[in-house]
Amino acid sequence: MEVSTIVLLIFLSTSLFLPSHSESSPGCKAWLAQSIPTDMRHLPRVPGVLSTGDVFRWLARNSTQRLDVTAQYWQLNAHPEDPRSGEYGYSKADMLRFGAHEGSNVYKALQDAADRNVSIRLLSHLGVYPDYTTEPSNLASGRPNVENVTLLLGEWYGSGIVHTKVWISNRRDVYIGSANNDWKSLTQVKEVGIYLVGCPKIAKKVEVYFDNLWKLAYLNSSAYTKTVSDQQWQTNRKVPCWSRFLDSKESCRSPLPQFVRIPHVAGYPILSDPYMFKIPIQTPGHNHSTLQPESSYLSFAPPELSFGRYQADEQAWVDTIKSVGSGGTVRISTMDWLGQSQYLKPTVYWSSLSLAVSEVVFSKHATVKILVAYWAHFIKGTDRYLKSLLYTNALCSSSKYNRCSGKVEIKYYMVPGFNLTGPATRNGTSTGNIYPGYTRVNHGKYAVSDARAHIGTSNLVWDYFYTTSGDGRTWPSLKPSEKRTAVPSRCAPNNELAPSQKPTWVHLICLSWSRAWFAHDFSRPRNRYSHPSLSANHLSTPPPPVQHDSDSEIQFQKFGAKFQILDRDYKP
Ligand SMILES: *[C@@H]1O[C@H](CO)[C@@H](O)[C@H](O)[C@H]1NC(C)=O
Ligand SMILES: *[C@@H]1O[C@H](CO)[C@@H](O)[C@H](O)[C@H]1NC(C)=O
Ligand SMILES: *[C@@H]1O[C@H](CO)[C@@H](O)[C@H](O)[C@H]1NC(C)=O
Ligand SMILES: *[C@@H]1O[C@H](CO)[C@@H](O)[C@H](O)[C@H]1NC(C)=O
Ligand SMILES: *[C@@H]1O[C@H](CO)[C@@H](O)[C@H](O)[C@H]1NC(C)=O
Ligand SMILES: *[C@@H]1O[C@H](CO)[C@@H](O)[C@H](O)[C@H]1NC(C)=O
Ligand SMILES: *[C@@H]1O[C@H](CO)[C@@H](O)[C@H](O)[C@H]1NC(C)=O
Repeated sequence: MEVSTIVLLIFLSTSLFLPSHSESSPGCKAWLAQSIPTDMRHLPRVPGVLSTGDVFRWLARNSTQRLDVTAQYWQLNAHPEDPRSGEYGYSKADMLRFGAHEGSNVYKALQDAADRNVSIRLLSHLGVYPDYTTEPSNLASGRPNVENVTLLLGEWYGSGIVHTKVWISNRRDVYIGSANNDWKSLTQVKEVGIYLVGCPKIAKKVEVYFDNLWKLAYLNSSAYTKTVSDQQWQTNRKVPCWSRFLDSKESCRSPLPQFVRIPHVAGYPILSDPYMFKIPIQTPGHNHSTLQPESSYLSFAPPELSFGRYQADEQAWVDTIKSVGSGGTVRISTMDWLGQSQYLKPTVYWSSLSLAVSEVVFSKHATVKILVAYWAHFIKGTDRYLKSLLYTNALCSSSKYNRCSGKVEIKYYMVPGFNLTGPATRNGTSTGNIYPGYTRVNHGKYAVSDARAHIGTSNLVWDYFYTTSGDGRTWPSLKPSEKRTAVPSRCAPNNELAPSQKPTWVHLICLSWSRAWFAHDFSRPRNRYSHPSLSANHLSTPPPPVQHDSDSEIQFQKFGAKFQILDRDYKP
């Protein structure tokens, strides 16, 4: 079959010749894209980093032939008039201040692309309350060039959702990152992604993944799923019948357009030499951009949807953590950190990332700094898993014979206003909230060591790697023998790049991370948390409860961690 031949050729060319593959198009550029919540004016984007809203609009507006978009849900248009909406009751002026127009502009750009007869494919999970799939359905309605489909991964895995956030335009331009197709993801939630322009080779691979998801949406899951006794996670669970978790006698041939048959294994095979792209990188906003090619690879989740020589997304995180040099630093930004499954029942224990962290703390004497979001929908249990990770510090210093000088440092990232989110009015009564629901959170998922960076879409919870679609991009990926990319050892916010310096992607993402980590270092002192619309009356209304352990602060301090309100220099 033609399709599997192509896969085979890629396989051979990467394993027999070079571990990397040069982009033939010299124009391939990789830009970092971020969303920064409003009212965080002392946390500007690092120069050269684009805004997610601009990137989404450009992807739609520059699209001439085809556009593929995956989304968990769609809420590009705000509905402050809908009592069921999380933005109910905010005034027009409030919505403008929140930046809601950024979302409607993206929606308009998509509508225009649809009207230009661009072939558009929209793949979504069920969506979320109260909009569900209204927006993709409206875009598809009456337009033969727009196709929309709902993929329920829960039917394939017992639980799980489409969580990938990917845009592919004209088979050349790609966005991969944490931003949802939600106006709030553009201006009220902190997001990080990568925008690749003029990169047909990479786009083609991301499209294969998209095609696999698309195909899955049209298959009868009952005919293609099996219950496996999963040895790695010690549970019985539902998986696609071509899963590597199944014994070869029980497994089926994958019906997906592109796949590689791999014999049954207890877990997932680790690729020591995943398929590499070598792309020269240009950085907008800087006159001197790095043009020397850098190796990178794509990773995907869940593993049954991966194909060819692509790394499973979990392994890409582990690789990035383990890429740290001796005495080096790994910097992680995540919304969640949970060492177990969140949705799969029975709950499974998952220590893959904690294990990698503890390993580099011990043997590489690495410092691992983790920023975890603390917000209105903080997952109960996170606190305890973080404490358990911090216990690595106690173990490290438990014997002088360990000669262990690595450490774990954790900070909760609180975006100002996180505890006052939700509709402005409920049943005619003012709630005291000052921001819409599900906002004011650091949602970016990325890691950067002194050798490598990884930007992904998966939350750091078991389900996102095994039952939920996600993807990521890791780069530069160096063999231990290769020279490491120079990343400033002090990646501090005041360590800005001089105009003559050539920023690399790792620099930019490192600087962005540091700005958040060190935010308190350069915030101006302020008396108290305040907001113009926060009247005395509002203050007497209790905020939505944030669940946490009452003893957590003390415990954290005991293990040497800090509770920090970043960006507390908050001035709307
Ligand atoms: C197309 O994309 C480029 C950046 O890749 C951007 O500068 C340009 O404004 C976009 N064009 C439109 C019409 O949005
Ligand atoms: C839209 O594109 C399709 C194929 O790409 C073509 O067959 C069709 O004629 C086009 N329609 C219009 C109105 O241009
Ligand atoms: C796709 O859009 C159509 C309207 O064109 C709508 O009737 C249908 O429910 C949508 N399907 C999905 C799966 O969202
Ligand atoms: C799906 O597959 C199951 C099991 O093979 C079968 O019983 C059912 O009829 C199929 N449903 C459809 C819509 O084809
Ligand atoms: C780039 O070079 C131009 C012309 O030399 C200069 O005006 C501009 O300020 C430079 N920009 C940056 C970001 O260094
Ligand atoms: C919200 O959280 C901040 C930071 O913890 C705190 O200073 C403030 O008092 C809280 N506001 C309310 C209304 O609880
Ligand atoms: C509004 O009040 C009704 C009746 O008291 C209650 O059933 C409903 O849940 C309330 N709605 C909200 C959004 O609180």
